[in-house]
Amino acid sequence: MSDQPRPRDRYAVIGNPIAHSKSPSIHAKFAAETGEPLEYDRLLAPLDGFVEHVEAFRAAGGRGLNVTVPFKLEAHALAHRLSPRAAAAGAVNTLRFDKDGIFGDNTDGFGLVRDIEVNLGVSLKGARVLLLGAGGAARGVVLPMLERHPGEITIVNRTAQKAHVLIEQFEGAAREFACLINGGGPQAVDARHYDVIVNATAGSLDAALPECDARAFGAGTLAYDMMYGAQPTVFMRHAESLGARASDGLGMLVEQAAESFFVWRGVRPDGAPVLAGLRAQLAAQV
Ligand code: ATR
Repeated sequence: MSDQPRPRDRYAVIGNPIAHSKSPSIHAKFAAETGEPLEYDRLLAPLDGFVEHVEAFRAAGGRGLNVTVPFKLEAHALAHRLSPRAAAAGAVNTLRFDKDGIFGDNTDGFGLVRDIEVNLGVSLKGARVLLLGAGGAARGVVLPMLERHPGEITIVNRTAQKAHVLIEQFEGAAREFACLINGGGPQAVDARHYDVIVNATAGSLDAALPECDARAFGAGTLAYDMMYGAQPTVFMRHAESLGARASDGLGMLVEQAAESFFVWRGVRPDGAPVLAGLRAQLAAQV
């Protein structure tokens, strides 16, 4: 028996910008927790250099990448094989390199669902769900949500046409899961409270509140913003002022990372302690 440490497999997160990414510290904690021998870095790729950077990392023995803004569509195009959830999302946040080539997956929607159901304790089964937004972020969460058998998903977007395109895309899957799917422009919001409202618009980036009937929020509503920051977002504050319970997207960040880790290593880390640590760090910034 040798006392040599096992060689560590290499992973990284690639994006532009990338300096702010919390993924390296999250994955370092997962590696420590599970004992998996891996290292995880940051890769800054120029806007026109994504494919070259991925190929160089892969050629140097890299085993997988997380992909972030603005490269998720290019990663989708680059993958040789896609998971069903990545195909439905039209975007890839996780690449795995193996003997069969480049496998593309998308763990964002799974991360959202797991945060809602496990960390926040709200079951989606039979739930009335309102999804605000119809861009890439919204598209990525619809299939993982449907897989949890909600009763109804209403997709509402400032530009109604984009909501209709999403509804059409997921109509077949919704039928399969016996879920009603509908929506359109902001007037398609029901005037009675939903169980879960997810803000998947880019609004929180510039402190903008997506238009939404106040009667959609009630005491039994979980209002979930996919963004996070040191302070509650405007959407969270608005939801709380209407009596709802609000959450930011920090748990989604941790849980999508845990699922990527599982895609790479076949081992599922526990997200809860890592989330608690990040939450404490954010609170210390206030
Ligand atoms: P992402 O990948 O983050 O989803 P995106 O594909 O550009 O980014 O989509 C942004 C989403 O946020 C869209 O649904 C957009 O609405 P439009 O389709 O009408 O543009 C929504 N959005 C952005 N700013 C918004 C605001 N101030 N109010 C409401 N919706 C907003």
